Amino acid sequence: MSRWIILCGALLLQATIAWADDVDAIARGKKALESRAFIPAPWPAHAYESAWKHWLPKLEKAPADYDTSFAAYYGLHPAPFRNGRYPMGMRQGPGGAGVSHDCMTCHGGSILGKSYLGLGNSSLDLQALFEDLNQASGRSGKVPHTLTNVRGTNEAFGMTIFLFSLRNRDLSVRKQPDAWDLRDDLCEDVPAWWHLKKKKTMYHSGSHHAGSVRTNMQFMLDPRNPFAVIEKEEAVFRDIQSYLFSLEAPKYPFPIDTKMATQGRDLFSNHCAECHGTYGANAKYPSKIVPLKRIGTDPTRLRGFSKQYVDFYNQTWFAKEKAAGFKAANTVGYQAPPLDGVWATAPYLHNGSVPTLYDMLNSKTRPKMFTRSFATDEAAYDKVKVGWKVSVMQDMPKNLAPVERRKIYDTTQPGRGNGGHTFGDDLDENQRWAIIEYLKTL
Ligand code: HEC
Ligand code: HEC
Repeated sequence: MSRWIILCGALLLQATIAWADDVDAIARGKKALESRAFIPAPWPAHAYESAWKHWLPKLEKAPADYDTSFAAYYGLHPAPFRNGRYPMGMRQGPGGAGVSHDCMTCHGGSILGKSYLGLGNSSLDLQALFEDLNQASGRSGKVPHTLTNVRGTNEAFGMTIFLFSLRNRDLSVRKQPDAWDLRDDLCEDVPAWWHLKKKKTMYHSGSHHAGSVRTNMQFMLDPRNPFAVIEKEEAVFRDIQSYLFSLEAPKYPFPIDTKMATQGRDLFSNHCAECHGTYGANAKYPSKIVPLKRIGTDPTRLRGFSKQYVDFYNQTWFAKEKAAGFKAANTVGYQAPPLDGVWATAPYLHNGSVPTLYDMLNSKTRPKMFTRSFATDEAAYDKVKVGWKVSVMQDMPKNLAPVERRKIYDTTQPGRGNGGHTFGDDLDENQRWAIIEYLKTL
């Protein structure tokens, strides 16, 4: 008996220590995200002050409430942590020098006017942000490759491939960039971080092991970071991963029709769970990569994760994390994402080409060309179709300045197709609304 008590006590103690370790790691990871940029500051602090001089329409003087106007112009959101005068995604550079961007530029989103670490930022114009801050720094406004084709999406992967082209296999910086097939048409929607803990493989095409810490460090390949600096931060990124694994989706804050949601759950089991998994008690997520032939969504992003990139990545430090390595792989399709908090993660599909859940379930109603306010308050949110309210457009107006053109999602452009995922097309309207009601509960 007493031996049992000692044994149970010892196990409990061990579990408590493990739990306390986790809690500490999560707290450290959160703090790192809220206080570090991981790259030297690209811009002097005065660039932030004078960015307005490059805004369109032209202004005579800086707006009175400059910090708020700055955030709204580029699609950044208030920081839900102490960040001085900067919005989430921008910060003072290391040692107080200059101003920098960080993970939350893209991974700090807002829904119903509330900011969340880990919600993809679907308002951001990264291209305008970089071009204006470069110009305000007295440099050319040009960036070496496209960062954003359409506001709310970005070319994160194109950027990564570009950064790899500047490195040798041992990750030392090259004198001349290597000749890589650079891409600027992948149009990536930023996935919510709270899904990561459920996934076996990550990124839209499931190319990388979701347990890999080093894959989250690819942005550190900025050529101003020597490899030794990157290597040194692995422990910090392990903490960041613990924090990412601890995140939960926010709950839908409006009333839900429970009777309808129950009907929707049964329909979901029959039509959707095979790929998207089950929720609630005994939840199961299959981490399924659905071949392009079956899913039929835009192929550009899948093909953009080139064999050249995968082969190179697999020969570097990034893929040698564990004895066996966390190797990247070219897959044949897109991963069906978990749908926790899906009410908050519009627009949908890997390229953000579908503005609402209703349109996800009825491919015929998907707008071909649309724009939206890029605000995230209740007025911008479509509670009926669930997602963003959009204005449908017929034609692309002529002679638009690029910053205005990027506000228009034209699904006929490369990487931006809104076809495929037709699994809701054969449902009737009542069935669609029931599934949408159920999706609000996730
Ligand atoms: C320029 C915007 C941008 C920045 C900055 C950025 N990310 Fe991402 N991140 C993305 C996009 C876009 C994806 C989806 C890529 C894809 O699959 O095409 C992504 C994917 C991820 C994923 C995988 C999520 C999943 O479920 O598949 C993780 C984890 C992640 N990023 C972590 C980070 C961390 C940590 C940082 C900071 C060091 C960071 N990211 C900086 C845009 C960005
Ligand atoms: C055969 C597998 C499969 C079935 C069945 C399926 N889906 Fe999907 N679903 C996917 C894949 C794969 C994606 C990602 C495609 C992409 O981004 O190109 C996806 C994406 C989505 C998205 C967008 C998620 C986001 O964050 O962008 C929603 C919402 C969704 N599915 C809902 C449903 C619902 C509801 C059903 C049932 C009516 C369903 N799906 C049936 C595979 C499936």
